Amino acid sequence: MKNAAISGTGSYLPERLLTNTELEDQLDTSHEWIYSRTGISSRRVVSAHETTSSMASEAAKKALEASGLEADEIDLILVATCTPDHFFPSMACHVQKALNISRPIPAFDISAACSGFVYAMDIAKQYIATGAAKHILVIGSESMSRAVDWSDRATCVLFGDGAGAVVLSASDNPGVMSSVLHSAYDQEHLLAYPTYTKDDKKPLVSMRGNEVFKIAVNIMGDVVDEVLAASNLQKSDIKWLVPHQANIRIIQAIAKKLSLPMSQVIVTIEHQGNTSAASIPLALDLSIREQRIQRGDLLLLESFGGGMTWGAMIVRY
Ligand code: ACO
Repeated sequence: MKNAAISGTGSYLPERLLTNTELEDQLDTSHEWIYSRTGISSRRVVSAHETTSSMASEAAKKALEASGLEADEIDLILVATCTPDHFFPSMACHVQKALNISRPIPAFDISAACSGFVYAMDIAKQYIATGAAKHILVIGSESMSRAVDWSDRATCVLFGDGAGAVVLSASDNPGVMSSVLHSAYDQEHLLAYPTYTKDDKKPLVSMRGNEVFKIAVNIMGDVVDEVLAASNLQKSDIKWLVPHQANIRIIQAIAKKLSLPMSQVIVTIEHQGNTSAASIPLALDLSIREQRIQRGDLLLLESFGGGMTWGAMIVRY
């Protein structure tokens, strides 16, 4: 059984920056409300020339470059997204084309909302462990600004767009050490993004934020304990928490649970908002390029989202 280690990372953020102050002109909201409740002061949003597939491709190119591999050495492409440009061809097939990969390698998308990246990393780990693949591109890419209701102040202010990518490679280094994934049907539709509506209106994301918040804090605390136990590690072994960026107060609650100071937590939410499946790989790439995360560091990745889906993963970088 081979280990699956990170051999390169990359990311892409749209050019357009949308600040809370600009939102004050469109909605009954204020910078103070948004920043104090969520930790968000601005987010990037796609322009006409930017799509989920184009952002995924740019992030993938950078990750490939960082890994030192040729595009044709990639054996599998996984794109986690809940905002694909279309359902087929998949975003992963678009990346295959953008990278000029000549081999007909498998490529497919994963739908697990904000947990999509952790789910995709877990799938990639299994392909490598069984020897079915040596090098895998794992990407999270989202255009949330095209999915939210811009008249719903309780939801639209939270989200942003972007893409992050990782090349996961067969390795003698430990890499992904353990992962825990869960899902449970969201009977009350606290978080939903349909593809059609009975009244033929454009389908949009809806969320009962306050209820989601309480569930998130509880289940994330539990899953963090579970993943530590699965790897026989203590809280104090973790060097960096790389959380899904949904709300700074949720992130702070998980850091507290881990007894980690915020200086050991990767936080990107202030200028990116919640980029769903892209938030963890974006945070990873940023902190690796800033040389905050160093080779050998032990990372805890965790996420939750629509479905409901949630999970956590321990990675030796
Ligand atoms: N500006 C001003 N006031 C607002 C805004 C806004 N942007 N949004 C809501 N309010 C108002 C509400 O109308 C409400 O007013 P009322 O008391 O008169 O009824 C008041 O503020 C409080 O609203 P709450 O929803 O109770 O506020 P809360 O403190 O819970 O914060 C928030 C809302 C930020 C959405 C929070 O609940 C949250 O972060 N939830 C979790 C979101 C999340 O993590 N989602 C999962 C991932 S997404 C995915 O998987 C796709």
